[in-house]
Amino acid sequence: MRKIVSFNDDWLYLAEDVPVSTPDIAFEHVTLPHSNITLPHRNFDNIEYQFISTYRKRFRLPEALQGRRLFIDFDGALMACEVFLNGHRVGEHEGGFTPFSFDLTDYVDEKGENLLVVRLDSTERPDIPPYGFVVDYLTFGGLYRDVSLRYVPVCFIDNLFVRTFDVLTATPRIEVDVRLKNTAGLEQKLALSFFIENQAGAAIQQFDGPAVTLAPGEESVVTLSGPVTEAIDRWSLNHPALYVATVVLASGSQPISQRMSASFGFREAVFRHDGFYLNGEKIKLRGLNRHQLYPYIGAAAPERLQRKDADILRYELGCNIVRTSHYPQSPHFLNRCDEIGLLVFEEIPGWQHIGDSDWQGISLRDVEAMIVRDRNHPSIVVWGVRINESMDNEALYTATNALAHQLDPTRQTSGVRYFLGSQFLEDVYGFNDFSNTVVEPSNTPHLVTEFGGHMFPTKTWDQEERQVEHALRHARVQDRAAGMDNVTGAIGWCMFDYNTHVEFGSGDRVCYHGVMDMFRLPKFAAYVYESQIDPDVRPVLRAGTFYAPGDRSNGGADGGYDFYIFTNCDEVEVFVGESLWGRCFPDRDAFPHLRYPPLKVGEGQLWYAHRLRVPAARIVGYRNGQVVIEERLVANKLPHALLLQADDTELKADGADMTRLVFKVVDAAGHRLPQAHMIVTFEVEGPAELVGENPFPLIGGQAAAYLRTRHAIGTVTVKAHTPRLPAASVTITVR
Ligand code: GAL
Repeated sequence: MRKIVSFNDDWLYLAEDVPVSTPDIAFEHVTLPHSNITLPHRNFDNIEYQFISTYRKRFRLPEALQGRRLFIDFDGALMACEVFLNGHRVGEHEGGFTPFSFDLTDYVDEKGENLLVVRLDSTERPDIPPYGFVVDYLTFGGLYRDVSLRYVPVCFIDNLFVRTFDVLTATPRIEVDVRLKNTAGLEQKLALSFFIENQAGAAIQQFDGPAVTLAPGEESVVTLSGPVTEAIDRWSLNHPALYVATVVLASGSQPISQRMSASFGFREAVFRHDGFYLNGEKIKLRGLNRHQLYPYIGAAAPERLQRKDADILRYELGCNIVRTSHYPQSPHFLNRCDEIGLLVFEEIPGWQHIGDSDWQGISLRDVEAMIVRDRNHPSIVVWGVRINESMDNEALYTATNALAHQLDPTRQTSGVRYFLGSQFLEDVYGFNDFSNTVVEPSNTPHLVTEFGGHMFPTKTWDQEERQVEHALRHARVQDRAAGMDNVTGAIGWCMFDYNTHVEFGSGDRVCYHGVMDMFRLPKFAAYVYESQIDPDVRPVLRAGTFYAPGDRSNGGADGGYDFYIFTNCDEVEVFVGESLWGRCFPDRDAFPHLRYPPLKVGEGQLWYAHRLRVPAARIVGYRNGQVVIEERLVANKLPHALLLQADDTELKADGADMTRLVFKVVDAAGHRLPQAHMIVTFEVEGPAELVGENPFPLIGGQAAAYLRTRHAIGTVTVKAHTPRLPAASVTITVR
């Protein structure tokens, strides 16, 4: 009876505000998620995405209504829109980061063709958060998330909220709030129950609920609950066990007239004065901030790219938490965080500025939309209910906190400020700490929600010394946070470089604040995070050098700077040429609290000694006396190979699926050459298109383009060329 149909296909798009009389032929065919404009990765202006565009979709109902109601659900649209069906205005929405729905039932033609029109305003409207003042990131435009059609019975389940309690005891309890809406003109007698399934899809327990009567037009929340007597696995970082709760609604003679499911986990997450506890275990939070931005496509990344970012944070960078700075992010990203055990701090849209009462009304609505959408995600452990770095506003933040607690009594709130002494109305004091250390908290629980960033912008092609210092700054703050019991953890600014407004960044509309570049390729600072990965999961050993002594200050001599290795090994041997230069140990004096401190090889002398004829070096990592990993540094820094790698070998032929194509020019040991600004040219054969600049000058020896599928299956071959090196290619199957 309840049915959801993807509505991402077969849209018509025109980058103009046009009347209905404009013929379809003027439009381009597009698939969602869609960006209103494809831009270069930098050196463009935000004015370029700021316009009103028209999306159209002609459709016949995929199945008959049979008495049901029909909704259209938008996961998000940047920044505001009006929606029309067959000439009727069905609604409008302001705000780009939270979902919205319209009831189409009264205007849809059940038998004939329908015309849906979305008039999308992607301007930076000062009446909508985050705008009204300056903002350090671009928002971009487009129907940039999924859209679906939802059929529901006239008396239907609107949403579910699954809560678990006493999860550390032998009998946890589960409660499910079922929001029901009776749009019918008749009273409805319903019986509710629910069952839970484990990850393998086996039903493990059933719970019967009360009989309910809903008056015509009534909306009501019914709570079902019971003790969980079957053995369950708790959701944790290393074992993120997920369950599914399915509510079954019986009405009249129909035993199952509708069902609705929600994925959830059994876990207890709490910030205390002395730390953050997950299932009773104290965990120091170590993470990065993530924007939802990508080169070329702005915010319009499909599911696969969203999931990949979560994987990069968890598996490549070893983070245990991400902050969705500065807005609710894609459901696909959050689903992946649930699946892989990555904790989330999610917050409402906004940046420093608080607007008038209408603007604040949108903020309150955003609090509600965010929490109602996301409160079943076990990965989300705290709600950010303050406009990032805004001034105190007692009335607004008393209201956002009260609303958050009412909608979700199970989670604590936080809010991010940049000055100590700001009013503490939340449960967790979120503080952006740009002191280059961690200040003594004035309120607890205290969480460092940002550090680094604009204090030390660093590019992948910057001189090595700067890139090393950038890494050490992350190491120092994470070390200090790790050592403070009254600090629950630190979330650095930020995961990757991002496009921004003229008031920020390096003039090319990029903030080079990431531990990775905007293609999610690592700088040395990324290795600080990666090296905290448990060595039982995988050994990590990364040299913080490009091994070009002449590029170092002081000609590589004394008084230069130290050579660091980022590793989770307990000792390393450094061989220069054939001879053992030395054995080195983690620098516990400088980093007493990090589990795996960087390891200092020594001053510039190492390089100076070999300045005239630099031999290859070998770094051998040991754990418990055994060699577990080895890294080679070659002296000849000439380009050796062009590498081309795709993140995926298979894609979906849905016209929207994308994968990243990483390309690098490397030396004989496979290390990128940061000064190889070589031109790479691509050729694509098969049913997919390249999203990126072609040809492309490498940035710091590395970059990426993206591949987007069409509605056709087949084999795609991408070839990359650069002068004087053999071509590289990858093959991807589109199914
Ligand atoms: C913070 C802000 C972030 C970013 C960062 C740069 O003040 O919250 O969005 O601008 O600075 O370091």
